[in-house]
Amino acid sequence: MSRQVTIALPKGRLQDAALAVFARAGVTVSPEELDSRRLWVDDTSGRFRFVLVKPSDVPTYVEYGTADVGVCGGDVLAESGADVHAPVDLRVGRCRLVLAGRQGEGARLDARATARVATKYPRVATRWFHARGVPVEVVYLSGSVELAPVLGLADHIVDVVETGRTLVDNGLEVLETLERCSARLVVNRAAWQLEGPALRALVEALRLARPEEVVA
Ligand code: PRP
Repeated sequence: MSRQVTIALPKGRLQDAALAVFARAGVTVSPEELDSRRLWVDDTSGRFRFVLVKPSDVPTYVEYGTADVGVCGGDVLAESGADVHAPVDLRVGRCRLVLAGRQGEGARLDARATARVATKYPRVATRWFHARGVPVEVVYLSGSVELAPVLGLADHIVDVVETGRTLVDNGLEVLETLERCSARLVVNRAAWQLEGPALRALVEALRLARPEEVVA
């Protein structure tokens, strides 16, 4: 394929881990380029362009075809509902989506009472509660979700946990794990059909470049 492939990369905690997998797959970016505040950067071959976007926006860029491929957490993908192809688990950025509440309160879900849950993941949370027949009121927050039970805005939160430090430091504990997540490579469905061989080569290179599977 002669045209440049556009890759939507999430700014923030997944960015470096994702770039490391791309580098092992032969798609490298010079550190000087990354030092800039510019929100796009070409790889050293000029065949690929990374666009740096907010993590939760990656599925949107890929679904609309503005980016051919992207990297996003399984948590973001589950919440987005975007119609994209997700062919590779990149095995970086491992985390869990959990239900958490105040430490030591033994908060149990009661199918007769409505649980008030604060979260950045309203779809995931709603689906999970509905699947268990527990009525839920979801309060959408866009960050610092751990404050909600502390301040009494909600009884529980559904949030992503990586080290668990933020929960502990805010007096919260995990009540249930909803799902385990890691970074996924997502591909625009039309590009996957039209640019098949070139994108398949990239996908295969990334599959070989990702870390070994961790056996739990
Ligand atoms: C995420 C998440 C937790 C924290 C968990 O927030 O919402 O707050 O990371 O990480 P830990 O288990 O390693 O402590 P993020 O840093 O993405 O910021 P945000 O709250 O602004 O979304």
